[in-house]
Amino acid sequence: LPIGVLVSGSGSNLQSIIDHIERGLLGAEIKVVISNVPDAYALERARKHHLPTLVIRHEDFETREAFDAEIVRVFKSADVELVVMAGFMRIITPVLLDAYPYRVMNIHPALLPSFRGMNAQRQAVDYGVRFSGCTVHFVDQGVDSGPIIIQAVVPVLDEDTEETLSARILKEEHRIYPQAIQFFVEGRISVNNRRVRIRDGKC
Ligand code: GRF
Repeated sequence: LPIGVLVSGSGSNLQSIIDHIERGLLGAEIKVVISNVPDAYALERARKHHLPTLVIRHEDFETREAFDAEIVRVFKSADVELVVMAGFMRIITPVLLDAYPYRVMNIHPALLPSFRGMNAQRQAVDYGVRFSGCTVHFVDQGVDSGPIIIQAVVPVLDEDTEETLSARILKEEHRIYPQAIQFFVEGRISVNNRRVRIRDGKC
């Protein structure tokens, strides 16, 4: 399945997706990696694997909609069928969502609907929850509010800091994001009344 990846940062989730594809565990082909941040390390990772990359700087556009329209133009011309947000730090608009209905995925480092928005790991430590985790979901018009595809749980330890919890969560992110994409590739995901159903593998 041709996919497009949106990044802004270190790109460890992108790396995990690349690794799963190269190991034959994920039936996707990355057509293009777009970053809104010119020096994102994610771009280096993509180049190392000879993947097409493109920087689209949000500052170059008057509106979020115009920025999204450029992303859509690039993805459509690359025949992208699924958009994967992997540490992409921009809020997207209906311009992108309407072009890819239930075809934009995101990963969030908390058990949604808890701790939406920025610094979710710090929010979890500060709140004192005993468990947190990560969530792969379809993106809708809200912030971290779309239909949930997969979640993974990790314990929060007394001695945890934002950094130690983030590392524990990230390990699970790298496992469940490729898994969610593979479910999509296999055509096993359906969405009804905002609830995701994942059909059985063999049939
Ligand atoms: C991850 O924690 C992801 O959940 C969040 O941003 C971080 C991106 O990490 N949305 P990376 O760029 O994939 O390493």
